[in-house]
Amino acid sequence: MLKFATRVQSLKSSSIMEISAKAQELKAQGFDVISLAAGEPDFNTPEPIQKAATQAMAEGITRYTPAPGFLALREVIAEMVTRENGYEVSPDEVTIVSGAKHGIYLALQCLVEPGEAILVPTPAWVSYSPMVELTGAHIIPLPLFEEDGFRPNVDRWKGLAIPPNAKGIIINSPNNPTGVVYTKEDLTRLVSWAIQRNLWILSDEIYEKILYDGAKHTSVSALGPEAKNCTVTVSGFSKSYSMTGWRLGWTIAPKEFSKKLGALQSQSNSHTTSFVQWAAITAAKLPPTILQSMVSEFDTRRQYCMKRLDGLSDYLTYTRPTGAFYFFINMSKFLVPRKMSDVEFAKTLLEKEYLGVVPGSSFGKENCMRISYATSLKNLETAFNRLETFLKTH
Ligand SMILES: Cc1ncc(COP(=O)(O)O)c(C=O)c1O
Repeated sequence: MLKFATRVQSLKSSSIMEISAKAQELKAQGFDVISLAAGEPDFNTPEPIQKAATQAMAEGITRYTPAPGFLALREVIAEMVTRENGYEVSPDEVTIVSGAKHGIYLALQCLVEPGEAILVPTPAWVSYSPMVELTGAHIIPLPLFEEDGFRPNVDRWKGLAIPPNAKGIIINSPNNPTGVVYTKEDLTRLVSWAIQRNLWILSDEIYEKILYDGAKHTSVSALGPEAKNCTVTVSGFSKSYSMTGWRLGWTIAPKEFSKKLGALQSQSNSHTTSFVQWAAITAAKLPPTILQSMVSEFDTRRQYCMKRLDGLSDYLTYTRPTGAFYFFINMSKFLVPRKMSDVEFAKTLLEKEYLGVVPGSSFGKENCMRISYATSLKNLETAFNRLETFLKTH
């Protein structure tokens, strides 16, 4: 009889992937399901990237690569980040990994000891907590408040007991699930708060290129050498170039750390797929117009969602997002009088109206839901019609 190792006994699949799978299952049974659950752009990967991958395969770039990734790709990423993010990066600080998620997993495995605590401003992306728990550590949520527009406000954490075994903090801007982009001032305060407490920082910047209303992305490592020395940055092209299925991302960290992360990769998945890495060189060199046209389409959808949400203000409130492609919606006005939980709400909405959303409690905040607008305007229109029907008839 096989017995699971303790570390995976309570491990569950990603709740978002589960909701998406349930929606797919209903679809396969012939139901007309619309899912706003997955955080996945609906565009196809830009053609030059596709072509580069096919060409790489035809040219025999199908063999093992160095564990940290092709030097040519690490050079291009280092140049791109130095140029666009405002801090110096050298190729030996870059490791190519199989998606930002994998980069976070590897970084946590390299940084966290069993029994330690990792601080996570919350609501937060669903996968941080399980990935921290896989190291034998646990997370301590640092509450973010709707009244603060879900931006970090260190004054709010004054009364919180931060235990001495707290070793790191995960920062995510632009944020999933709130779509909030932290300003340079927000980050400066947050990062100095972390440095004063001797914490290392994992900065998840996967949505860095998806910005609206003139919002500007600030990289934690651009805040100065002290910040850079204690930060592992994770990013990739999954969201910006619709490459979610390609499984490619990168980490940027001090050289010694990158060496260790590369060693861990060499002893686990070896490296990211060779021709995917090759195609990523093309992705890094694409003219900005391709990205701009996708972001502009997201923005049209965001505006549409705001119009529809404003029309439902008797039932919900929301924080205006300026990045990523999510709305984090407070459903208290609807849920509390009905004594309905957000999980029940999401479940019933899927069963009754065939509309998939993610309950806020998956992100550590009850009475909320997250919707993704990385889907067509037509789908969004139908989705909001269904949501409206549900809210008005329950
Ligand atoms: C905040 C955040 N970080 C990381 C990831 C993972 O990105 P990738 O697909 O590159 O692994 C996601 C994907 O949903 C995310 O929302």
